[in-house]
Amino acid sequence: ALVRRVLFVTGAISMAGCPPADRGEAVFIGRSNVGKSSLVNMVTNRKSLAYTSKRPGKTQQFNYFAVNDKPGREKEIKFGDVVEGEKDLDSFYIVDLPGFGFAKVPDQQRKEWADFMRDFLANRRTLKVVFHLVDGRHGPIDEDATIMKQVGESLPKNVAYVVVLTKADKNAKGPAKKKLGKVSIDVLNTLRETMRENKVGNAPIIVTSAETKLGRDDIWRYLRIAAEA
Ligand code: GTP
Ligand code: MG
Repeated sequence: ALVRRVLFVTGAISMAGCPPADRGEAVFIGRSNVGKSSLVNMVTNRKSLAYTSKRPGKTQQFNYFAVNDKPGREKEIKFGDVVEGEKDLDSFYIVDLPGFGFAKVPDQQRKEWADFMRDFLANRRTLKVVFHLVDGRHGPIDEDATIMKQVGESLPKNVAYVVVLTKADKNAKGPAKKKLGKVSIDVLNTLRETMRENKVGNAPIIVTSAETKLGRDDIWRYLRIAAEA
């Protein structure tokens, strides 16, 4: 897709630490280790823009990345993904969040992130899209249901909410099948049920793999909403 440049802007730990609300934003939320940072890299065509780790608890702040920002910013990182003749996207922010549900993060820290996330989902004016990542192998955990409930109750109705099943390559054996990805019917049924119970039953579900780039275009269909805001 049309990523001309992307740069890290800041890591926020409260609403006051977010950059000025001057453009659309798309946010990636979900449990620790579900693949949020990997998906940010996948959709922006970068290997290590957002730091990832095998160990949960890697991302510790609300990390803001500016896509297609105007040139001239200090930390600007350029990379070649210009598609000749295609219309450039306007600038928008991708926000990579810390994960929830990871026991080794101190209680106080977890509470601060949870409070910030609640505030953010309800009150960030320029928020346009929420990608809620759920592990494609295991389906939703308790905290996922809590997030859905929050979304159902307090996410403004004009914000798109999208459920993303991650790591679909891990369920499939062999390179060709990995490319297609796989999610079990049980996981899909449980997910649908949890979504319905929490009044977000109509949200779209996207199946992805950061490894094989499965679902990239589907994610971009919604990122465009933030870009065109
Ligand atoms: P926190 O920052 O701790 O909340 O985690 P996160 O949700 O940002 O997860 P991260 O992107 O760091 O990925 C966690 C681990 O899962 C890393 O070892 C990734 O390489 C791996 N991973 C992420 N996405 C995929 C995927 O689509 N397929 C496979 N096979 N591995 C993946
Ligand atoms: Mg992360």
